Amino acid sequence: MASRLTIPAPQLIDLHPAAADLRRLVVAGMERQPRQLPAWLLYDDRGSQLFDAICEQPEYGLTRTETALLLQRAPELAEALGTGTLVEFGAGSARKVSPLLQELDPHAYVALDISAAHLRQACRALQQRHPTIPILGICCDYSQLDELPAHPWLERRRLGFYPGSSIGNFTPDEAVALLRQFLKLLGPDSRLLIGIDQPKAVQRLEAAYNDRAGWSAAFALNLLSRLNRDLEGDFRPESFHYRAWWQPEASRIAMALISREPQTVILAGQRWMFAADEPLITEYSVKYTPDAFRELARRAGWRSLRRWSDGDDDLSLHLLEPAERVSEPDLQPD
Ligand code: AVJ
Repeated sequence: MASRLTIPAPQLIDLHPAAADLRRLVVAGMERQPRQLPAWLLYDDRGSQLFDAICEQPEYGLTRTETALLLQRAPELAEALGTGTLVEFGAGSARKVSPLLQELDPHAYVALDISAAHLRQACRALQQRHPTIPILGICCDYSQLDELPAHPWLERRRLGFYPGSSIGNFTPDEAVALLRQFLKLLGPDSRLLIGIDQPKAVQRLEAAYNDRAGWSAAFALNLLSRLNRDLEGDFRPESFHYRAWWQPEASRIAMALISREPQTVILAGQRWMFAADEPLITEYSVKYTPDAFRELARRAGWRSLRRWSDGDDDLSLHLLEPAERVSEPDLQPD
């Protein structure tokens, strides 16, 4: 029997993001002191699976806590966001947005992500759950776009969504630049809902990035396999160990692979020496107090409207509006 309800196919726009010049980025990172590679390199197919496993570890509460907060506060969040088209940056598998879509009933949902395969998957799954919401996936590097592509669904007021505290992977100056870029893409009548992990007891922070089952270590070490595969490397993962520690002066967790011994590695056609105990930084995870984050947002041209937090005040959802808004008479009715 034919089903009565036909689920529409989500729309996809592929802006063909320029292949990052992996070799150049990795060589530049290996020449830094200490050595440090871009965090997004951790997310090849295997790395994305390992990250999903981290999110399920008892020590790593961020994903669980934020997901629960979004579910619990969805009606208030939706009301504070108002009407418009919801735009998620770096949607990945878009597993957090459902309660918001349910309550907000936005004009449309637009997911931006660098991986076309992930995006297609995520949009299809979401369209099944929300058959009446128009869904558009845009495959792009949103940090490099001058504007969002012309599309009727994007002519409405834009409501940005950036959960997961992903902004923690950037230095504060880079984070300001990213928030400015969001402002440029969303426009002067927008809102931005952003998830931010906060400083907490050092012991809990360090445990979250050193889970007992070893997924955090496997996630970092997988970077070496990726480099071996994609840049003709000869890293021996056994000759490094993983370490994550709190750096109070920068309010961040540093994660690194530490060379167990003096060694020489070949990568990208060059030889690289590692001293014993020399670190290769795989990522930082900056934590912001509510005030520190508001200040960061202010530097980027945003004003904080409201903050929601979990019961333990471990993390925040901040709602931002542009500091300079369009004058009221110019507002178009949605
Ligand atoms: C995806 C950047 C938010 O910093 O908590 C978790 C990445 N790395 N465990 C974080 C991560 C190792 C995560 N972010």
